[in-house]
This record gives sequence, C-alpha cells and structure tokens, in this order.
Amino acid sequence: MAAGAVTQDTSATTVRTARRVPFGAALEYDHFISDPDYTALFVSHCDMIFPMNALKWDALQACPGEFDFSRADDILSFAETLGRGTYGHTFVWYNALPQWVEEIDRPAQAEAALIDHVRTVASRFSGRVPVWDVVNEVIAHDPAHEGPWRDSLWMRLLGPAHVDIAFSAAAEAAPGAELAVNDYDLEFTGPRYDARREAVLDLVRRLQDRQLRIDAIGIQGHLYPEIPIDHQGLGRFIRDLEALGVGYRLTEIDVIDWNLPPDAALRDEMAAEHVGNLLDAAFSAALPRSVSTWGLSDRYSWISDVMPHRAGAPNRPLPFDEALKPKPMYEVIQRYLSA
Ligand code: XIL
Repeated sequence: MAAGAVTQDTSATTVRTARRVPFGAALEYDHFISDPDYTALFVSHCDMIFPMNALKWDALQACPGEFDFSRADDILSFAETLGRGTYGHTFVWYNALPQWVEEIDRPAQAEAALIDHVRTVASRFSGRVPVWDVVNEVIAHDPAHEGPWRDSLWMRLLGPAHVDIAFSAAAEAAPGAELAVNDYDLEFTGPRYDARREAVLDLVRRLQDRQLRIDAIGIQGHLYPEIPIDHQGLGRFIRDLEALGVGYRLTEIDVIDWNLPPDAALRDEMAAEHVGNLLDAAFSAALPRSVSTWGLSDRYSWISDVMPHRAGAPNRPLPFDEALKPKPMYEVIQRYLSA
C-alpha cells in the first residue's frame, strides 16, 4: 500500500475506549498520504476509517471501462490492517461524475453505464466494504416544490427507476453488504425537512414494493446551528424506518459555522451543543449502527471551501481543532457513544 508515509504510533490505538456504537471518519486520500499526524489522529480515535472521495465515480472510473482502485485500496487496506471498520461512499450521486458520464444522452447507455459501474465496484470490494451508500442525495432539496426526486443526469435519463437499477445491481454484486440511501437535511425543524423525511420513507417503501433490499438510511448530519433539530420529527422518522425494518447511521456529521460568532471558544460550545442535540434526538429513538464525521480535524474540511466563515475566521466544523486537539464536540460524541 502507498501509506508508507504514515508513521504508526501503536500506543495511540489505546486511546480508543469501548463504544456501544462505532465512531468513524471520512479520510481524503491526499491528506492520508501527505499528513501523517492527521492520519495518526484517525488511528487514535476511529473504529471506522473510510475514503471520503476515493470511492466516488470520478475517482474510480475517470474513463469508460478503465477502473483505478488504487487510492480506495490504499485507504481500505490501511483500515483493514489496523482491524478497523470501513464504509463505502458512494455508487450513484448527481455529483463527482467524469466528463464521459456527463455526456451520456441516451437512457440505454445510462442504464448500461450505471449497472456496469455498480457491478464492477461492488464485486471488486465484495467482502471488504460492509456498507454501501448505493445512492447519495437523491431527494429533492425542497420536495414540495421541485420533488420528490432531485434533478440529476440519472433522473433526466432514467427517472426514479435509476434507484431501483442501482439497488438491484448492488444486491447482486455485494450480497453480504448493507445497502443504504444517504441524504442531508433530515434532522431539522420545518416543513421542508418534514417533506424530506417523508420522501425518504416513500423511497424505502418504493424499493420494498419492488422486492429490493434496503437496509439502512444514512442521515448525513451537516448541521446548521441556526436551524433547530426536530427532536420529535427525527425520532418519529427513525421509528418509522425501524417499523419498515430499516436501520440508520449518522454518516457525515460536521457543523456549518459560517454564521456563528467568530470567537472560537464560543463557536466550539455552540457546535458541540448542536451535535449533542442531534445525538440526543437520534439516540432516544434507537441506536444508530455507526456515527461518523466528514473529516476529523478543522485542518481539512469541505465547509471551509464551500461555506467559509462570514467574518473570515477559519471554520471550526469538526471534533478536533487544527492542531489536532479534541474540542467539546468530541467530548459530546464520546459521551453518547461510550459503552
Ligand atoms: C465532499 C468532499 O468532502 C469534498 O472533498 C469533495 O470535493 C466534494 O464532496 N455530501 C456528501 C459528500 O455526500 O460526498 C460531500 O463530500 C459533502 C456533502
């Protein structure tokens, strides 16, 4: 594996305490290779270590039929060697598509490409990746006005059937893996979020009506502290899923802190409180199968690129700060996860 740059501090593995729910984080390949201290933080604290981008379509199949599994393999082998869990993100997304896929304009060609990609990737990692986000972000941002499905190349060419096609191919090629739908904005208070939770439940029923296996929902958990968590609504959603035989995971937790006060200590407290509100609402309904954050330290996060702090302060979206020191958010997560 190409992780020779990573210095292994085996004593760090003792930092992890027994947890009733596994904790993990998404790891971007470039940082995995270039920043050994950062990677060591995953070793110290994560029960699951998984690729942030290396299993997305553009990373695996940039040209038709030419697959490059090397980066995903490196991260997965790293996790496996340490005896940690992993996670597969993702087969089907409207984003991270290479040019050749963006240029597909015939339904039959889209269906063939979709089936081939899912089959090839799922079978390549069969027995190694225990969970797959089969589809990511397929629910419309605002289902009442533009939904229920989100616009994408797949929707335009194949309609909602593209989700059935992906689940069917995944079930066949990765029979032992848990199959999930992963989406955002499922935890907040307000009609748009109610509609999004309803749309996910409808999608689960749609798959089940077609005898397609769906095992779990990934609740991403990209949190906006200015939008309250819907304690009751989220609890009801998780129990409704349970009644349908479907579990859940908290998959991409981070805090979008662009509107919070610049003061770092205050911001960290507010972020921790909001993550606590999410965990409280979710855990009171049922235990998730795992909890993971989207990155681990404020050193690297998509939030800084996409939603930089309004006052120009460095973003603080994650459980560890830029110097890799734990923040109040990590203590809150530990509190809920410890056995
Ligand atoms: C983001 C990654 O963090 C970035 O590095 C990449 O450039 C774009 O994708 N929801 C998802 C993730 O499901 O795949 C996204 O990850 C963040 C939002």
